[in-house]
Amino acid sequence: MGDDDSLTAPEIGTPMEPAHASIDARRLLALRRSTSAELLTEPGPDESELANMLQIAARVPDHRRVFPFRFVVMRGEARERAGEVLARVTRRDNAAAADARIDVERRRFSRAPLVVMVVARIDPGHRTPEWEQTLTVGATCQNLLLAASAFGFAATWLTEWCAFDADVLRAFGLAAEEKVAGFIYIGTASENPKERARPNMDEIVSNLTIET
Ligand SMILES: Cc1cc2nc3c(=O)[nH]c(=O)nc-3n(C[C@H](O)[C@H](O)[C@H](O)COP(=O)(O)O)c2cc1C
Repeated sequence: MGDDDSLTAPEIGTPMEPAHASIDARRLLALRRSTSAELLTEPGPDESELANMLQIAARVPDHRRVFPFRFVVMRGEARERAGEVLARVTRRDNAAAADARIDVERRRFSRAPLVVMVVARIDPGHRTPEWEQTLTVGATCQNLLLAASAFGFAATWLTEWCAFDADVLRAFGLAAEEKVAGFIYIGTASENPKERARPNMDEIVSNLTIET
């Protein structure tokens, strides 16, 4: 990527372009599709690409600048160590779990070259409602998917059981009040995804009508 400099945010107060008309951006937004984690192979993003992608992910609408999110990057051996945590918790909670199931857990985060854990750190005491902070975290995950695609990588946003297990989250370093908004798996698609059902726009778009 030769134009990384143009991705650096300018100083606060710098006049900005209000829009970025782009056929490529329109195409990305209109045709974005997740790729199953099982189909995400090497290569993943390099350090510079990842840094840019996270910067883009963090650039979301955020009422009163709460910054209710943080990112934890899982790559290389860290994915295996995270998988060991899942295997351990699974074995502990289900002594009869088959070895195959334990293996699935051990390899869960190794399905893709890179996994970004998006952590929600909602501030319940903030003037900005929790609902709005939660929406901001969701936008962060979606931005990361879009950024991955713009850099030429396939990705998917998963939670799965591990996003909701208190012991797993503690082992991953989350504070008691933090939550996982998503594990964003990123890599190169070994197989192209197929289109899936989308909303019927006639059913979800209407014009506001108010009786006078
Ligand atoms: C918060 C969140 C959690 C998700 N968790 C899972 C999951 O655990 N397993 C799964 O198969 N899909 C999950 N999905 C759905 C996929 O990310 C993906 O959106 C879906 O397969 C449709 O693909 P698309 O992104 O191409 O529309 C989740 C989506 C969201 C928004």
